[in-house]
Amino acid sequence: MTILVIFVAYALLLSAALAAAGHSSRSSLPNTTGIPRRPPARILIVGATGGTGRQLVLRALERGLKVTALVRDPSKLEVKHPDLTIVRGDVLDYASVEAAVRSQDAVVSALGHRQFFYPTRILSQGTANIVKAMEAHGVTRIVCETSLGIGDSAGRMGLYYTLFTIPLILPFYFWDKARQERIIAESHAEWVIVRPGVLTNGPGRKRTRHGRGIGNFLWTVRIPRADVADFMLNQLASNEYLRAAPGVC
Ligand SMILES: NC(=O)c1ccc[n+]([C@@H]2O[C@H](COP(=O)([O-])OP(=O)(O)OC[C@H]3O[C@@H](n4cnc5c(N)ncnc54)[C@H](OP(=O)(O)O)[C@@H]3O)[C@@H](O)[C@H]2O)c1
Repeated sequence: MTILVIFVAYALLLSAALAAAGHSSRSSLPNTTGIPRRPPARILIVGATGGTGRQLVLRALERGLKVTALVRDPSKLEVKHPDLTIVRGDVLDYASVEAAVRSQDAVVSALGHRQFFYPTRILSQGTANIVKAMEAHGVTRIVCETSLGIGDSAGRMGLYYTLFTIPLILPFYFWDKARQERIIAESHAEWVIVRPGVLTNGPGRKRTRHGRGIGNFLWTVRIPRADVADFMLNQLASNEYLRAAPGVC
């Protein structure tokens, strides 16, 4: 019983720490314009061999965008298209990030990894490199996927995630996600942080709920990666969530 109480206290404290460490809309600059911007022509997709990343690549090509995919292993991205350029790189290697960011109009990131059980800085350091390269080359817009459960969405992945999955399996990963959000929010970029619920591989349902206050403190909320990708690509030409972190589910 004592162990259970200590564990629940730890889980709740972690959730509070993720709330404080991630982005909160109170700390963002106000969105002063609702005017849509011109859609970008050339975008860099980071994390293109991952679940969301693949959907981003396919859907961006469908929209007629010129896509560059930054990947560690080009053989993992089995998409061929005249408008797709695949470049080998690693977000932790600044030179490869800079080369990929140069001459893009915007960056879309679905970076993630599976090194859950020890502290890492892959998300935060990788994103710092992306933001630095964007500033060096005058690339203004970044749309980045993080997760419900961070910043002012803490607890909104549902009770199972708040009390079990995040504290037991993902504490280091989520802590680095909170740092990643801070790096984006403190940048000079035109940024949109997209926080999905639990991701599924089902077909897109095109019934995405989005905004602040999305998610549920009790029930786990889900969303197909296809719908996350569509929502992220929509943010390239919209100022609705400029410098904000909408949840999506
Ligand atoms: N799974 C969920 O239910 C869930 C819920 C909410 C939010 N999210 C978040 O959503 C994001 C996308 O998740 P996902 O499951 O769709 O993606 P994923 O399958 O985890 O893919 C992650 C991508 O990041 C790439 N990557 C990792 N380290 C890299 C590095 N050092 N340099 C360059 N690329 C690197 C991976 O490349 P390789 O193929 O080379 O490894 C892969 O393309 C993640 O941040 C995840 O935490 C997930």
